[in-house]
Amino acid sequence: MPAPSLVILTGAGISAESGLATFRDAGGLWSRVRIEDVATPEAFARDPARVHGFYNARREQLADPAVQPNAAHRALAELDARWPGDFLLVTQNVDDLHDRAGSKRLLHMHGELRKARCTRCAAVTPWAGDLSTTTSCPACGGAGGMRPHVVWFGEIPLEMDRIAAALDECDIFAAIGTSGLVHPAAGFVAEVAHRARTVELNVDRTDGTRLFDEARHGKATDTVPRFVADLLAAT
Ligand code: OAD
Repeated sequence: MPAPSLVILTGAGISAESGLATFRDAGGLWSRVRIEDVATPEAFARDPARVHGFYNARREQLADPAVQPNAAHRALAELDARWPGDFLLVTQNVDDLHDRAGSKRLLHMHGELRKARCTRCAAVTPWAGDLSTTTSCPACGGAGGMRPHVVWFGEIPLEMDRIAAALDECDIFAAIGTSGLVHPAAGFVAEVAHRARTVELNVDRTDGTRLFDEARHGKATDTVPRFVADLLAAT
């Protein structure tokens, strides 16, 4: 029997213990700024400097030496390295903590904070510093067309074809540290429910808990290493 095919979805909760704020918990990012001011194409057209400022601050925070992958990121990287069957880690997070932990079979469906995209030539470039309304594109040289390589509300998430293919084959689906409120990711559990064992790992119950076969509550740094150990023990 081939090993079960795994799809793992992560959200901001997995990075909370690394020091990055979530969006919707008390004190989360969306309690401090409005989505429609910083995370839509319309906001960027209206006030690009403000949008750049929001993502520049988040990029800077990510560069803080105190912000490091935690035990949950590391456990998922180990699972990726050791899982004998198909495996895909789909993250909604724009941080690079899964990458830094060593995950390889990984897709960033909402983009990456440490990349910039040219709206003129479409080149995507690694980006460590600030972006501004005058930044030039390293690929085409055009100035003023650079944007964060992140998906905004109203835009289509990245890599949806590869994600759909993995969900089609999936035998075990786990959602970790996500409120399950943002589509399309919020709909993945319903898409696989007819064929896969579904597990939610979250510090608390969510609006979507009832959609999963099993819920494991607790901090990601506790629940994820245990979940990974259980999966590896069963193969
Ligand atoms: P949310 O902020 O909506 O949800 C974070 C989830 O993590 C909540 O359900 C918390 O209970 C849980 N959580 C918090 N700390 C945790 C911990 N230590 N261990 C385990 N769970 C914990 O974040 P997301 O679901 O990721 O999109 O949000 C989805 C999308 O909405 C984001 O990718 C972003 C946002 O707007 C865009 O910007 C396009």
